[in-house]
Formats: sequence, structure tokens, C-alpha cells
Amino acid sequence: MTLTPLSGKVALVTASSRYTGAHLAGALARAGARTAVHYHGSKDAAETLVAQLRAEGGEAAAFGADGGSPAELRRMADEVRGQFGGVDILVNNLGPYCDTPFLRLPEDQWDWIINTNLKAIYVLAQAVAPGMIERQWGRIITISAGSAFIRSHSVYGLAKAAALHLTEALAVELAPYITVNAIAPGQIEDSELIDTIDPNYKRILRQESPLKRLVTRDQIAGLVLALCGETFATTTGHTFRMDAGWTIPTWQYQIGPVEYKGQEHGDDVSHRNDQIEG
Ligand SMILES: NC(=O)c1ccc[n+]([C@@H]2O[C@H](COP(=O)([O-])OP(=O)(O)OC[C@H]3O[C@@H](n4cnc5c(N)ncnc54)[C@H](OP(=O)(O)O)[C@@H]3O)[C@@H](O)[C@H]2O)c1
Repeated sequence: MTLTPLSGKVALVTASSRYTGAHLAGALARAGARTAVHYHGSKDAAETLVAQLRAEGGEAAAFGADGGSPAELRRMADEVRGQFGGVDILVNNLGPYCDTPFLRLPEDQWDWIINTNLKAIYVLAQAVAPGMIERQWGRIITISAGSAFIRSHSVYGLAKAAALHLTEALAVELAPYITVNAIAPGQIEDSELIDTIDPNYKRILRQESPLKRLVTRDQIAGLVLALCGETFATTTGHTFRMDAGWTIPTWQYQIGPVEYKGQEHGDDVSHRNDQIEG
């Protein structure tokens, strides 16, 4: 490990035993942060990641907690503080998916998705922000999703959208020492699970996206690291959409091209109708 811009900082990444969270925890540890890896069911995976980061010269430890339980999250935050002395960087990566339509959504699934995707952010911010304020430095970064900007991903979209509201509210409350930002990735290119559910999904999303590509875990990790650095020290309450333009609102049917004809046409727009009918 050569680059250590975050040396002296402690990072806690929720849901970091596997997938994107593990990638983010790895990037933070490799940048020098002492890193808390959070797991629920995958203790072995979390311990393997920790061993790997230590072998590379980093400092990391694994902490277990059910992210759907505020009491367990508070206990975990205490344990991280006990071992590392505080949390300077909180990455709220926990965010299980669910798109069951509202009329069929069981109440316990509503609770679970809201608790993990949204309530956990508030619970952990409450647990770690006082220490950040005391040390006069802190970064809170929430991994939301492109689903926050559409209305067909049920309670997951709702929770991800609410997380952006919470990001802005916390940014105001926790200034001036703590920045609070969100990243809203579209479908992640190297997220394998979706391929087993629908092998065509990524190809269709690539086609539908203006930039014809999908965001990668490396790119998300790059932004997380950048948000911890000086470049973004004056950016707070912001959501970075990393979705190749997928969530930019568009309307497929285009009237036109309708060219401006100058004053001689006044308000007469009949030439547009000509074009539409023609
Ligand atoms: N995948 C995508 O394409 C995509 C797109 C946009 C946004 N996102 C967002 O990116 C983030 C990461 O998503 P991902 O797809 O890489 O991973 P994911 O499948 O959402 O999450 C896997 C992780 O979640 C943990 N987890 C699950 N239930 C938990 C619980 N009750 N308590 C604590 N941890 C729990 C797992 O830990 P254990 O195995 O230890 O239980 C595992 O480490 C999420 O916020 C997601 O919403 C993902």
C-alpha cells in the first residue's frame, strides 16, 4: 500500500462483506483508512476481506450487525468506536432491493426495506456524527440508486429517494465540519446477481442509456475517495448520479425538428402541425 491520503481516518462501510460494499471498504483501506467491514450473514467473507486488506498492509476489522435493527447498528457503532477510537467516514452502502408493487407488498417487507435503506442512515449518523463534530471533520456518503428518480421500483425507490432528502437535511444540520453527500448509481456493470435473474437486463439498460454503458464499482469507489478529499470539501447535500444519463427525463416521441421561423410567423404554429401530419 503506497497511497495513504486517508491515513489517520477511520471508515465504516455498511454491508461491506460482499459486492459493492466490499469494493468500497477495500478502496478506503487501500487509501490508508482504518476500515470497519460490516457483515450480517457473511462473516467468513468479511473476515477473508479483512485478512486480505491486512496482508496488503492496511488496517481493518469485521463487525457483525443486522442492518434492519437500530439497536444492533448502535451496538456496532459502539464496537467500532471502541476498537478504532471513532468513525470519520461513514459510507451508508446497505440497501437491499425490492420492487414488489405496493398493493401486494407485505408490511414486514416495507419495514425491512425502509429500515435498511433509510432508517439505518439516520441511526448511524446519530451514532457517529457527534464524534465527527468533536474532531471537526467528517464525511457521510450514502449509496442511493437511480431508482430514486423513477416511480416503478416500489418501496426501494421510495427509500432511495427519501435518502436523498435525508442527505440534504443532514448536510445542513451537520455543517460546517461534516459533508454529507449521496451517490446514485444506475445498474452496476460488475454486479453479477442481476444476470442470474434476467440475462438481458444490463444489455437493455446499456442500450437505453445516453452514454451506452453502465457504471462500475471502481468508478463508485473513485467518487467515494474523491468525496473524502479536498476537491469536494465544499460540496455537501449533493447527489451524484452515476448512471450514464439513464435517469435524465426524456419523452420518446419527438415533435419536429421544429425550427424557429422568426417574427414573420408571429405566434402561428401551424407549420408545426404541417410537419407532424406530414
Ligand atoms: N447492484 C446494483 O446494480 C445497484 C444499483 C444501484 C444502487 N445499488 C446500491 O448499491 C449498494 C450495494 O448494492 P450491491 O448490489 O452491491 O449489494 P447488495 O446485494 O444490495 O448487498 C449485499 C450486502 O448487503 C448485506 N446485507 C444484506 N442484508 C443485510 C442486513 N440485514 N444487515 C446487514 N447487512 C446486510 C450483505 O451482507 P451479508 O452477506 O453479510 O449478510 C452483503 O454484504 C446498495 O445500497 C444498493 O441499493 C446497487
